[in-house]
Amino acid sequence: MSTVRLLLSCLLLKEVVALSGNFWHITDLHWDETYNLTDNPQLVCASSGQRPAANAGKYGDYACDSPWLLINSSVYAMKDILPDPDFIVWTGDGTPHVPNEDLGEEAVLNIMRKLTHIINQVFPNTKVYPALGNHDYHPKHQLPAGPNKIYKQTAEMWQKWLDPESRGTFNKGGYYTEKLLNRTGFRMLVLNTNLYYNQNKLTKGIDDPAGQFSWANQVLTEAAINKEKVYIIGHVPPGFFEKKRSTKWFMPKFNELYLDLIQKHHSVILGQFFGHHHTDSFRMFYNSKGSPISAMFLSPGVTPWKTTLPGVVDGANNPGIRVFEYDTQTLLVKDVVTHYLNLTHANAAHGRWEKEYRLTESFRVPDASPASMHQALERIANHHCYLQKYYEFNSVNYDLTECDSDCRIDHVCATREVDFTKYEGCLLKEGAVAISSGLLPVLSVAVSLVLANR
Ligand SMILES: *[C@@H]1O[C@H](CO)[C@@H](O)[C@H](O)[C@H]1NC(C)=O
Ligand SMILES: *[C@@H]1O[C@H](CO)[C@@H](O)[C@H](O)[C@H]1NC(C)=O
Ligand SMILES: *[C@@H]1O[C@H](CO)[C@@H](O)[C@H](O)[C@H]1NC(C)=O
Ligand SMILES: *[C@@H]1O[C@H](CO)[C@@H](O)[C@H](O)[C@H]1NC(C)=O
Ligand SMILES: [Zn+2]
Ligand SMILES: [Zn+2]
Repeated sequence: MSTVRLLLSCLLLKEVVALSGNFWHITDLHWDETYNLTDNPQLVCASSGQRPAANAGKYGDYACDSPWLLINSSVYAMKDILPDPDFIVWTGDGTPHVPNEDLGEEAVLNIMRKLTHIINQVFPNTKVYPALGNHDYHPKHQLPAGPNKIYKQTAEMWQKWLDPESRGTFNKGGYYTEKLLNRTGFRMLVLNTNLYYNQNKLTKGIDDPAGQFSWANQVLTEAAINKEKVYIIGHVPPGFFEKKRSTKWFMPKFNELYLDLIQKHHSVILGQFFGHHHTDSFRMFYNSKGSPISAMFLSPGVTPWKTTLPGVVDGANNPGIRVFEYDTQTLLVKDVVTHYLNLTHANAAHGRWEKEYRLTESFRVPDASPASMHQALERIANHHCYLQKYYEFNSVNYDLTECDSDCRIDHVCATREVDFTKYEGCLLKEGAVAISSGLLPVLSVAVSLVLANR
């Protein structure tokens, strides 16, 4: 009897294992070629601007973008931790945060070539899905809604990874779609959302830059007809930055169109994977009845670079890389495992990549489905211990200070509401909840800040 049971459970286990796949997501490598250990902290790297790199070591400094050693260490850590992933998602931003005058078309392309080369060298037999970031163009953020030299050269650089059919749309608008791993019934949709970035002057007056929305709508419509499951990847996400109240990236019209796209096609979309924040967070999408229909995972960056965005206090992070575990038959995202390098420790002792956390363990959810991510969000919103845990993960264990009531509102509302108007409503609602709970002194400050920031 017990032998039979054992045998049965082994068989079941085998089946479960067989259905389980995994892939790497890396993002925001931001290689700074000028990084060099010198006695003058202001001269360590161009990406620090005038800020001193006070703790510069060979793996980097929190004021700087990545030195090559950190890039190399990250890619080799991937190989060490999970050498044979089903595929790799790389969501852009390869160049450093420096003035346009310090770079140029060739400099940007050369950095991208070097990064492409190391990923290809370490994972020669792995399919890579790359997406363009707002720093993967010169001048930065100004990605055009039509053919240009950089799209063309980048497509050539990524020739080994892209299907030949992807080159047409990539040359035109920096986006493409392919069957996922060439398997019938599964699809990858790679967007160039830099076209929607409010810093992009070239797309401001255009209704549908490079026809990407109508194209994506058509791809997803056909996916439904063909009973396909789809992953969407991109760089700049819609919605808000969780570390600074009311800070958004998309132009309003494009934010609405993105939400419409997800709401219309959510039944075929099994996951959205983006970067740009450098922090670890996620975004929920709900239908008109308030049920969770999709989740977007924002993966932490490799660069530790402290943001210069005014109003963000101490916005650096430890370098992070991430494995997604998924069901190969349904594309359900089953779990998310984040690994990181404690930069302080790496500089002081040696470069040691550690597991940071596993989503299902840390937030006690069964998987990473939209319903489970909604449950995780509710835990974060309502229990301080989960909020604090989430907050420490947000900067990849860099900022371990207390997440106070203001901080809670920023993170909860950014995660819950991608829609610009609903986000403002969330700020008011969460502020109001705080008032009724009776902690008056703290709360009146919170509320006045809510009002001041609208
Ligand atoms: C880095 O600085 C050292 C002196 O501290 C210098 O000899 C070297 O050429 C510099 N390297 C680069 C790449 O700038
Ligand atoms: C990159 O990392 C690998 C593995 O740790 C190491 O063998 C190699 O020497 C490193 N290369 C550079 C240029 O640092
Ligand atoms: C993808 O599959 C088709 C047939 O289904 C085959 O002709 C093609 O060579 C495959 N492509 C790759 C890159 O494996
Ligand atoms: C990172 O390393 C430093 C130096 O070893 C240590 O003080 C700090 O506690 C570490 N941080 C975490 C989150 O483990
Ligand atoms: Zn970035
Ligand atoms: Zn970016």
